[in-house]
Formats: sequence, structure tokens, C-alpha cells
Amino acid sequence: MSEQTVQIKTAGKILQSPCGPIIHGLEDVLIKSTSISDIDGEKGILWYRGYRIEDLARHSTYEEVAYLILYGKLPNKKELEDFTNRLKTYRDLNSATIEIIKNLSKAHPMFAIESAVAAEGAFDEDNLKLAEALKVGRYKAEEKELAYRVAEKLIAKMPTIVAYHYRFSRGLDIIRPRRDLSHAANFLYMMFGKDPDPLATKGIELYLILHADHEVPASTFTAHVVASTLSDMYSAVAAAVAALKGPLHGGANEMAVRGYLEIGDPSKAKEVVEAATKPGGPKLMGVGHRVYKAYDPRAKIFKEFSREYVTKFGDPKKIFAVASAIEQEILNHPYFQQRRLFPNVDFWSGIAFYYMGIPYEYFTPIFAVSRVVGWVAHILEYWENNRIFRPRACYVGPHDLQYIPIEQR
Ligand code: CMC
Repeated sequence: MSEQTVQIKTAGKILQSPCGPIIHGLEDVLIKSTSISDIDGEKGILWYRGYRIEDLARHSTYEEVAYLILYGKLPNKKELEDFTNRLKTYRDLNSATIEIIKNLSKAHPMFAIESAVAAEGAFDEDNLKLAEALKVGRYKAEEKELAYRVAEKLIAKMPTIVAYHYRFSRGLDIIRPRRDLSHAANFLYMMFGKDPDPLATKGIELYLILHADHEVPASTFTAHVVASTLSDMYSAVAAAVAALKGPLHGGANEMAVRGYLEIGDPSKAKEVVEAATKPGGPKLMGVGHRVYKAYDPRAKIFKEFSREYVTKFGDPKKIFAVASAIEQEILNHPYFQQRRLFPNVDFWSGIAFYYMGIPYEYFTPIFAVSRVVGWVAHILEYWENNRIFRPRACYVGPHDLQYIPIEQR
């Protein structure tokens, strides 16, 4: 470091820099106004388009919720039927995309999803036409119609991408989508090739509903940044998938279940939780949230579903028992109480998946299967009033250094 370098001092979540305060991690920074979803982090409430998540989880389907998020209102019967049928017709993938997924069959599925989404965009004529129009600043009724069609295609194709990767990774033939099945049931069918168990289908459906949107976490923000450059919608979604992959975001569900398996027995919960409170100790995956300072409402719902699932099918690996013991320790521990850290949705979501026979590397991909609707809805909302994202950084390095030829260094 040169003498001219100015140290940046941390004061809570604001970093003091020579150019002014830096909001570390953009905490609480508003990037736009939205009518898609809202979170009351203090009370632990989540709404999609004004509807409470609990009501949607109890009464709705993923297709209905996807329509609500995308089009801003609950559909009537005809609208829902048409929307569901359109999704069914868009499920297939281009053969070149299938080849890419196959070539990445040994990689973590999130790598394959990123690549497959980007590739599929290169073959979608609507996407290319839309991108051409955006390039010349045209975004009128005709282009908006195109944009919604592209959005629907992305929602429809995501389960196929994930299921095909699963099949290839196990050396199995892919199973084409079935038009007589719902989004959730067809996904399980494409994965396992048999009519899915009703409780497993309910679990996937519930999970898809609970993850469909969540205001602007890292992945959705990433989608905005890419879309704001007027790149194409598939590229924005591919970038969002990349952001979701991280263990601090969507990757936490996989890490949480891996953790429960490693812990192995509820009697070890105290020790594990204690270790997470030590400086430099491992963070507990599925715990804490940037916005929720109360129990995550999605986690409450999925906890009950996990309980229902293990009550029916058992908990032979004791992962539900371990998670429950950890939860108790957290809720009673001053470290977590003072920081207002509670289990988030990822704490519970992987347990039923694990017992459904879904390998844990597919937990985050299923998050993407759901969240794609939030990503595309936010892109469409932002394009109504687009401005490229271009923040600044405070430069604290030296200026005007003398260039020294390599032989003299
Ligand atoms: N285990 C132990 N301590 C924690 C944890 C945790 N899981 N999460 C936060 N803390 C502590 C953290 O060490 C810090 O302590 P101190 O004030 O002493 O430095 C304090 O709580 C505040 O944490 P932070 O990291 O500054 O909070 P953040 O808002 O930057 O990060 C988070 C939020 C979700 C990334 C973080 O809580 C975390 O890493 N959790 C584990 C990963 C996880 O479950 N992610 C899924 C999030 S929900 C689903 C989604 O949106 O994708």
C-alpha cells in the first residue's frame, strides 16, 4: 500500500471514506419503487402484490402465484387456464442447450443452469427481436408483448433445465415434459420419471410459492443491473442465477442440510450453536437475514411442512431433529437474540427435499425454478422506467505514479 492510501474506517454498516459515507452492501439503499412484493422485516410479514404469503401458501398454486407476480392481479379461471397452457407449450429446450447441459453433467447444477439459460436466450427469436428493439430504444406495446412472452418462456423452461441436468448427472436419459401435469408435478416427473407422490408435489408447490419473489436480494438486484444495460432478459436471468448460487444467498439451503447430516445428532446442537457465536466461528447456514429481524414467515410455513413430511415418512437421518434442536438453541441464545438472528427459509427448506430423494446440490436450483418469476417481473417493472445502474467507488490508491520499464523494476 502506498503512503497516499487512505484507510477506510468501519462504523457499523457505514464505511467512512474520503469521498463520504459508503453504505456497505447497499444496506437499506432504495433502488426503485415496486408493487411486486413487500417485506415487513420487523414483524416478519411478506406480501406478493398485496397478498399475504400465508394465504397464498394455503390456497394458491405456483401457476396462480406466478401470474399474480407477473401480471399484478389474481387471474380469473380463463386467464389462469391460458397462462398455464402457455407455460406448458414453452417447457421444451433447444437441442443445443440440451447438449450444453449434458456437457456440464459433472459440474454443480448451478453452473449448468447459468450456461443453459444464457444459451437458450441465443435461440429464442422473441428474445433476440426484443433485444434488437431495446437496442434502438423501442419499448412500446408490441415489444412489451414480446417481453412478457419471453418472461413466460423463462418461467416454463427453468424446471426442464434443472431436471435434465439431474438426469444427465446420473447417467440417465432425459424425460420430456408432460403437458397433463402442473408445474410442480411435471418437475418431479421429469426428475424421477414416475407419477410423483402427492405430498412431495405439495412440498415442491409450497416451496415454489414461498420463494417466488422477495423484493431485491442479491440475485434480483443482479438481474436489474444486467437488464438496465438493455442486455437481453435471458442474460439478466443467467446473471441472477450466478448470484443465487452463493452460500450467503440461495446456496444456504444446501449448506444447511449438509450441516445437519454432519452434526448427526440433536445432542450436539448446543456445541454447534456455541461455536457459531465465537469470533471467526462458522456461520450457521439458514440463520439470519438482511431484512428480517423477526422469524422469517416462509420458514414458519416450511417448518410445518417439513414436520408433516417427516411425520409421514420418518426422519431416519435425524435432520429434522437436529434442525429443531439447533432452532431451540438459537432462539434461547443471547448472541442470536441480541443480533435478532432467526432461522430463515433455508433453515427448513432442504429437509423434505432430502427425504424426497433430491440430492442437495439441486436445492438451490429449485430455488431458481421458483425465483425466476420474481426476476423477470422485476426486469419488466424496471424497463418501464429504465436507467442504467452506474454507482461510484471511492478511489483510495495513488495517482500519477511514474511508469518504470520492466527491466528496471
Ligand atoms: N450465524 C452466526 N452469526 C451470524 C449469522 C449466522 N448465520 N448471520 C449473521 N451473523 C452475525 C454476524 O457475524 C454479525 O455479527 P457481528 O455484529 O458480531 O459482526 C451480525 O450477525 C450481523 O450479520 P451480517 O453478516 O452483518 O448481516 P448481513 O445482513 O450482512 O448478512 C446474511 C445477512 C443472510 C448474509 C447472514 O445472516 C448470513 O450469512 N446468514 C447465513 C447464510 C444464509 O442463511 N443465507 C440465506 C439468506 S435467506 C435466503 C435468501 O435470501 O437467499
